Amino acid sequence: MKSLSNRRVLLGITGGIAAYKSAELTRMLTKAGAEVRVVMTQAATEFITPLTLQALSGNRVHTTLLDTEAEAGMGHIELARWPDLVLIAPTSANFIAKIADGKADDILSTLLLATKAPIAIAPAMNQAMWSNQATQQNLQTLQQRGIAIFGPESGEQACGDVGLGRMLEPAQILEMSGALFDEGLLAGMRIVITAGPTQEAIDPVRYISNRSSGKMAYALATEAAAAGAQVTLISGPVALATPDRVKRIDVISAQQMLEASLGCAPECDVFIGVAAVADYRPAQFAEQKIKKSSDTMTLALVKNPDIITAIAALEKRPFTVGFAAETNDIEQHGAEKLARKKLDLLFANDANATLGSDNIGATALWPEGSQALGPASKRLVALQMLTLIRSRYDASSNRKS
Ligand code: CTP
Repeated sequence: MKSLSNRRVLLGITGGIAAYKSAELTRMLTKAGAEVRVVMTQAATEFITPLTLQALSGNRVHTTLLDTEAEAGMGHIELARWPDLVLIAPTSANFIAKIADGKADDILSTLLLATKAPIAIAPAMNQAMWSNQATQQNLQTLQQRGIAIFGPESGEQACGDVGLGRMLEPAQILEMSGALFDEGLLAGMRIVITAGPTQEAIDPVRYISNRSSGKMAYALATEAAAAGAQVTLISGPVALATPDRVKRIDVISAQQMLEASLGCAPECDVFIGVAAVADYRPAQFAEQKIKKSSDTMTLALVKNPDIITAIAALEKRPFTVGFAAETNDIEQHGAEKLARKKLDLLFANDANATLGSDNIGATALWPEGSQALGPASKRLVALQMLTLIRSRYDASSNRKS
């Protein structure tokens, strides 16, 4: 279930015997890579304990609206803004009526009014309650509001009746929830991005580096995570906040960036080298601060490893994307790097116009073609780049299979 990976699911549980299945659903959602926060009505706690759901979701369970401790952690409005999907399973007949009425008299109904996330419900009730006209009218109201209704199914009920009203099995609910995210551009893709400059130490207080801000890589990470990818950012020293839902590994030198990259590469589908890796490092690291003893000074440098070349040379290599910031003959240098480093795709851009700036224009180059991107904000261009990465990735996977 790739499309649930990295998604935030707020699982609401209302009172009903089917609540015992919510434990399994929580486990399955978590296993599919979703982050799950559980909200229970008072009635639900009569059927299953919050402690069980807390253990399975790994997060604190919310049961009351005015719980000062819970509000201090993640308040209910914050909680309403948090999810990508609100899934209520099981949803009782009473709760369906509450949603239809727009009531906000407990934590779950309040969240439903406050959230902008899509909502899905998995009803569970006695067959007579399900077919009752009041329930059916309420369901129609919910449907008109765009709320997805999963099930119910027909079968033997806890009360002994046979008919429509049983909650769907957790596996089915999981599948239907995942289908809601299928259209995410990078749903389930694992992407590693290197970012920023590297610093190569000369002595304990000095280093060689460059003026890379990391903005392009961070914009790519932000957009990729929002498009459903699982993103790891291997970042040199930059003054930027970690984007939402992105795993960040901080490194300083090229050697550290290489080690982190080789560690992540076997587990990723796409590797994007945006970092401005220092090409050379001092041949010797002086353990003590170098003193100003002469009028001139010569620093011997040795070549750093080429990270992206090492990734592209792996036997099980990810789809490998490079960047080339050039000051002249941009496309020519870009094409040469694409071939020399054996990359699948490369974005070449003008270093003078790009370094530290919020805007960028670039030329995308791949073995069979090219495309101009921007100039526009790094965020917008990041989106265009990801769209292109997706289509080139799909084309190369088709070729291999
Ligand atoms: N790159 C890398 N490791 C290096 C140097 C570069 O992974 N040691 C990657 C960059 O992240 C980028 C691409 O290679 O994706 C091109 O970087 P660039 O600095 O333009 O290439 P160089 O090989 O260093 O060429 P130049 O001689 O122009 O500096």
